[in-house]
Amino acid sequence: MQFKLTEEQLMIQQAARSFAKNSCLPGVIQRDEVQQFPTEQIKELASLGFMGMMVDPAYGGAGMDTISYVLAMEEISKVDASTSVCMSVNNSLVCWGLEKYGNEEQKTKYLVPLAKGTHNDELYIGAFLLSEPEAGSDATHQHTTAIDHGDYYIINGVKNWITNGNSASVYLVMAQTDANKGAKGINTFIVEKNQEGVKVGPKENKLGIRSSDTHSIFFTDVKVPKSQRIGPDGFGFRYAMETLNGGRIGIAAQALGIASGAYELALAYSKQRKSFGKPIHEHQAIQFKLSEMATRIEAARLLCFKAAYEKDQGLDYSTSAAMAKLYASETAMWVTIEAVQVHGGYGFVKEFHVERLMRDAKITQIYEGTSEVQKMVIGRAITR
Ligand code: CAA
Repeated sequence: MQFKLTEEQLMIQQAARSFAKNSCLPGVIQRDEVQQFPTEQIKELASLGFMGMMVDPAYGGAGMDTISYVLAMEEISKVDASTSVCMSVNNSLVCWGLEKYGNEEQKTKYLVPLAKGTHNDELYIGAFLLSEPEAGSDATHQHTTAIDHGDYYIINGVKNWITNGNSASVYLVMAQTDANKGAKGINTFIVEKNQEGVKVGPKENKLGIRSSDTHSIFFTDVKVPKSQRIGPDGFGFRYAMETLNGGRIGIAAQALGIASGAYELALAYSKQRKSFGKPIHEHQAIQFKLSEMATRIEAARLLCFKAAYEKDQGLDYSTSAAMAKLYASETAMWVTIEAVQVHGGYGFVKEFHVERLMRDAKITQIYEGTSEVQKMVIGRAITR
């Protein structure tokens, strides 16, 4: 078992750390306050090769491994989880599946600019459209339909909670093509945002990750050529589930970053803040909190690395990914609440960052499968 990072992984970690400090930290409070999408930050991530980190360089990617992706996600999420979710969705939920299951034509046309993150100097990113008003955790019950008309489909329906909803140029849309076949009657389609019949709903006003853009997307008689379907007929649900396995590693790493960011702030504050005549970290009440934060974070980090390692080795990582996401997101919520507590009243105001991290932590227990869904995935694996 290897616990030492390679030179390349350390360099990627350092690059992500510098990016977070120099490009995300200035203005992060303001962007959160006014819900401003981090366009400049995403463009810079694209120039670092972080929008298609794991994609083969032949398709515009950076050819890095999943451990490096976890390292980068942790560093960026310590400072700005709104920027990191955009990065995670593009890497895991958009590029990964296109590279694995897209045909050559789809990869040349879509994967190359998506992995680069820009096209003609403009932002070029994707979104993953599975959730619906009545199909969140119960994802097989899709109400969006794609009716087969020979060489094209007609899509109608509504998708909810779509990260990158307005900023994306390309949508990967899951829709029911045959209601009688359940999960095997679902397909995934590549749909361009500017296609006729596609409408973006208003931006959601959220508790956390406020500067990421989350929207409903409406489809009215959208005509999609058959060549835009990914994989064989009926493969769309399996495609979504496999994609989400990798997505869960990204969100686990995001949760890990939110937790470690809050912990680092709490540790630093506990050394400079004095009460009862000494720095507060010398009080056992605070030391116990810091010790437990550090231990839970380390455990979450190891689970993230294990899932990433299994993915890089070509092993089945679905259970490890669900465990990493479950544990890291619970850790993020717990640690951020404790970090606010360590800060006392200062933790409750925006300038000290921990209240934002606490608000951002909550979504990691909800998106890409709630904690309850992760327990379903784990439960089915350990009892079969
Ligand atoms: N990996 C691979 N395949 C999987 C899988 C997994 N994790 N989970 C299910 N499947 C396969 C099954 O093997 C089955 O295939 P076969 O019929 O060939 O055997 C098929 O998918 C159907 O599976 P189930 O019968 O188990 O389906 P189910 O209806 O019982 O649901 C579920 C299973 C795990 C609850 C699933 O619906 C699920 O994961 N729901 C949560 C969806 C989710 O994560 N949504 C997040 C939206 S995306 C998002 O948040 C992005 C964002 O913007 C940040």
